[in-house]
Amino acid sequence: MILVTGGTGLVGAHLLYYLTLENDIVKAIYRTAESLKTVKKVFSYYTTEAEKQFSKIQWIQADITKTPSLEQAFTNVDYVYHCAALVSFDPNDYKAMRKINIEGTANIVNFCIAQDVKKLCYVSSVAAIENKPNNGLIDEQDDWNFEIQKSGYAITKYGAELEVWRGSQEGLAVVIVNPGIILGAGFWQQGTGALFTKIEKGFSYYTEGVNAFVGVEDVVKAMLQLTQSAIKNERFILVSENRSFKEVFFKIADGFGKKRPSKKITATVLNVVWRLDWLKTFIIRSPRKISKYSATSLVGKSKYSSKKIAQRLAFRFAPIEKVIKKTCLNYLEGK
Ligand SMILES: NC(=O)c1ccc[n+]([C@@H]2O[C@H](COP(=O)([O-])OP(=O)(O)OC[C@H]3O[C@@H](n4cnc5c(N)ncnc54)[C@H](OP(=O)(O)O)[C@@H]3O)[C@@H](O)[C@H]2O)c1
Repeated sequence: MILVTGGTGLVGAHLLYYLTLENDIVKAIYRTAESLKTVKKVFSYYTTEAEKQFSKIQWIQADITKTPSLEQAFTNVDYVYHCAALVSFDPNDYKAMRKINIEGTANIVNFCIAQDVKKLCYVSSVAAIENKPNNGLIDEQDDWNFEIQKSGYAITKYGAELEVWRGSQEGLAVVIVNPGIILGAGFWQQGTGALFTKIEKGFSYYTEGVNAFVGVEDVVKAMLQLTQSAIKNERFILVSENRSFKEVFFKIADGFGKKRPSKKITATVLNVVWRLDWLKTFIIRSPRKISKYSATSLVGKSKYSSKKIAQRLAFRFAPIEKVIKKTCLNYLEGK
């Protein structure tokens, strides 16, 4: 039996669809019934039989930070895909991220060991890999540099990886995937889905920062192939292309047939914006909209290599332009 954590999120929902094609029954944990609706919606982008595929999931209410709730989820489980996490660049979420991302992952690893799980696939992030000076291509060998300041999210994804490596030392077979920024359909009010929503509504700003992008279906296919392979105790970067935010924003606008964003935001402007946002949060206690780290990543240039998975699994990523076009179509269908 397979267990998925984070099945009500972007990666988990798409993964569950693929798993229900290959399995009669799949276990997944959820926290609130409300979140299940979006999973069904994601299934409907793939098939007219969304309800039938969805009924193959055995949902178990559990929170990865509360071990008693995980007991039932882990009975008779052979393979675990751990996608649950708190993804945030708000420094106020740091404590919660430590709890969910690091302690939650430690709980998953401990249950996997106790239940003799055959393999754990953990979704990390390129954020957990060191940045390279001089714009070099970052790969799986690049070590974490403790002297460079990192976002709370990056620290907790790195901390979670350490828990997974600790599990491998205790005999658990693991694979870790490190995706770039994931684009895909279904979650239009959060993460990169919100970017599609904003641009469709006429968002007019862009930056020239560069980062790594990948389609959610490629992330899921790589996870399935790695988990089903004999490969263990290794990590793999999942990136289709390193592109500027300007290029990606323009392609999204093109996908909707809307006007391309026309106002460039520079590093200097962003530096002022995140400080003003900090001040506003400090005074009126509103949630942070932009932090020092999200500002830095919007103008910084980080490029990643996915040569390892291409060589080991002959894996080919869909071009980002194709991913964006499909995601725009799904958005328009789902409105
Ligand atoms: N999205 C990206 O661009 C990106 C890029 C690289 C790596 N990643 C990594 O990929 C993984 C999946 O990301 P995503 O984009 O799918 O995130 P997401 O859409 O925000 O989904 C997060 C999932 O984690 C669940 N979750 C959060 N806290 C939990 C808890 N305490 N107990 C149980 N479940 C909990 C959420 O459940 P609820 O529905 O109940 O909130 C949801 O199912 C994460 O590990 C993330 O770090 C994401």
